Amino acid sequence: MARYSKEERRRILEDALAKNPFFTDEELSERFKVSVSTIRLDRGEMGIPELRERTRAVAQEAYSRLKSLDDQELIGELLELVIGERACSKLSIDESMVLSKAQVARGHYLFAQANSLAIALVDAKIALTGSVDMKFLRPVHLGEVSVARGTVLKRKKNKYWVEISAKVGAEEVLHGNWILFGFKDVEGAKKKEME
Ligand SMILES: CC(C)(COP(=O)(O)OP(=O)(O)OC[C@H]1O[C@@H](n2cnc3c(N)ncnc32)[C@H](O)[C@@H]1OP(=O)(O)O)[C@@H](O)C(=O)NCCC(=O)NCCS
Repeated sequence: MARYSKEERRRILEDALAKNPFFTDEELSERFKVSVSTIRLDRGEMGIPELRERTRAVAQEAYSRLKSLDDQELIGELLELVIGERACSKLSIDESMVLSKAQVARGHYLFAQANSLAIALVDAKIALTGSVDMKFLRPVHLGEVSVARGTVLKRKKNKYWVEISAKVGAEEVLHGNWILFGFKDVEGAKKKEME
């Protein structure tokens, strides 16, 4: 990328962070071919907070949008949620989540992260998973962070087709397609009344 003038860089930097608030100062410094301290100075002068604060603000907003499940039912940390469109969460793999011999994340934790993210995308008070076609692509090790992204591909009445892809860094570790159903309440789910 060509080097920009200070004004151009700051304008593009502001746009980039508005689109993706999760860029680190290091990533931005590589992108703009300037030092990390220049990026910090730019952010400081433009009143853009550091990554941790930006993440906290975005996460708070995402959690406030949850409709089909409670905060604690979402496995991992919710980073973004636009119900009916897209969502993102991260799960840090700790000691309690790994198979002790292999030090590899147990499948149900990764599945739970993906499944709860798919449920969060359904625009209804109650959402149930109907079916899943999913692959674990490579083991996730102790200390790694799985970042899952979900996209609603299609919706027909109360039926949703959702694609979930989880990555560790740039490597995809899980990929699958979910079919979910939304209901207006518990009785609705029993009687199969749609939202
Ligand atoms: C998933 C569930 C709600 C679907 O029931 P339903 O709404 O009566 O489904 P219907 O028979 O009316 O079928 C509606 C459509 O979905 C399809 N379908 C039915 N069950 C499905 C399933 N489990 N997965 C994917 N598609 C399904 C049907 O083929 C039909 O498709 P069409 O519209 O193209 O003809 C029901 O099977 C259920 O409650 N399953 C248990 C869900 C659960 O507890 N999940 C685990 C916890 S999240």
